[in-house]
Parts: sequence; C-alpha cells; structure tokens
Amino acid sequence: MGVFCRRTELCCALRGEDVARFALHFGKKRMAKLPVFEKWQAGTQPEYLHPEYKSSVKRAPTRPLIVLPHTLSERTGPVFGQQAIRQTDHDLTAQHAGAPLGERIVVTGRVLDEGGRPARGALIEVWQANAAGRYLHKLDQHNAPLDPNFSGCGRTLTDGEGRYRFLSIKPGAYPWGNHANAWRPAHIHFSIFGDGLLSRLVTQMYFPGDPLLDYDPIYSCISDEKAKRRLISTFDWENTSPEFALGYRFDIVLRGREATPMEQ
Ligand SMILES: [Fe+2]
Repeated sequence: MGVFCRRTELCCALRGEDVARFALHFGKKRMAKLPVFEKWQAGTQPEYLHPEYKSSVKRAPTRPLIVLPHTLSERTGPVFGQQAIRQTDHDLTAQHAGAPLGERIVVTGRVLDEGGRPARGALIEVWQANAAGRYLHKLDQHNAPLDPNFSGCGRTLTDGEGRYRFLSIKPGAYPWGNHANAWRPAHIHFSIFGDGLLSRLVTQMYFPGDPLLDYDPIYSCISDEKAKRRLISTFDWENTSPEFALGYRFDIVLRGREATPMEQ
C-alpha cells in the first residue's frame, strides 16, 4: 500500500507543473490527445510468483493488485536532462586505462512506444558482469576474477529515431545459488526511461543460442513463447565491426501488445 501512496503523492506533486508545461507547449487540444496505455497481454510478462525462481516466493504480492487510473503526470514526466550524459558513457570498454578482457560486442537497437513511434531521448542504462561472470559489487563473491579495466555500467540517450548503441564485452555466465548447479545465461541488464513514469522498463537482454536459457527460472517465468523470444538479441551482421567487435541487435517496446517483458 505504501508504494501506491507514494506514487499518488508524487503524481499530485507533479501534476500542476506538467499541466502548465504542456499547456504552454502543446495547447489544450493536444493534451486531450495524449495516449492511454494498453494493458499487458496475458502471459507476456513474468509471473509474479514462479516457485522455481526462489526469490519470487517472498516478493510476489499476496493480495490482488490495485489498479490506479493513469494521470497526466504518469504519461508525460518526469524527463531527464541530456547534459547528465557524457559522450563516452555508452562505451564500457573505454572507462579505464586499458581494454577489458573478453569478446568485444556492439549492442544496438531502437526503443519504440506501443504505437511503433520512436522513443526519442529515452534514457537507457545498462549493467552487466565481466567476461568471467563477475560483477564489480561487494555482494558478488563468485570465485571468478575481477577485471581492473571493466566496471560494467553504461548509459546513453536514444536519438531522434529511437536508436541507441553501446560498446561492451560479452558477459560471462555466473552461478547464482537459486538451486543446485544454477547458472544464469549471459545477459545484460537494461533500464529504460521513456517519456513518463509508466514508460519505465527494467529487463534483461540475452544472447542467441545460449544453452543455459532453457534451464533459467528467470527467463522461464514468462509463459508466452513469443514474448520470451523478445528478450533474446539477434546476431547483427550489419553492425559487426571488422576485426573489432561482433554486433547484436536488441529492439525494445515500452508498452502494449508487443512490449518487451519487464522484470517484476
Ligand atoms: Fe545479472
């Protein structure tokens, strides 16, 4: 209940500012045309309770969710200042004195809204394990080496066509203790902020052909096979850089029928 109360307060705090901003820039007619988001299609998002994924047993809600009506604030803001992003933040291979170990990759894609329109200026943040399957985080005690030349975090903004691009290294699989001999498939965590609070998406990108996908309870807690496949990037010959890096493409849809499954 606390979450809903906080959201309500936030909406109330933002509403006046948003109304003034949109009235100024778009006029009352345009405001009336703001889209209403569709609901998720059944089976296309992770189940809250998926007993094979042990943490979901404690986290899953035990009572029916309360559906709140969308307000102007949730559909329009807040937005992020572009000056907070440095030009090199998208390159995870160039954040230290030397190059990180591992297979260099280029990850590109487009961020679209449910109507197929590009999400312009969306903030994308990524984080990932290094090539050995180790995060630079005090809670990660996996017996694999840290890489002094790899922190594993990056961010960027989408351009006018909703496109983004990251340079990185392919992350390694890592054990995670969910069950005996449990290994996470190689993945990159994504957080995307579109143009409003309801356009926030946190998800994971996987790699094609990974044999660990079939054994992963996190990937498997989405029942719709088509929706699951949206989480697997495709090998991208066009963006493969000769003698430098392999390309992978990962397109993201923020809401609606074709939405990218979101971590719950
Ligand atoms: Fe992870």
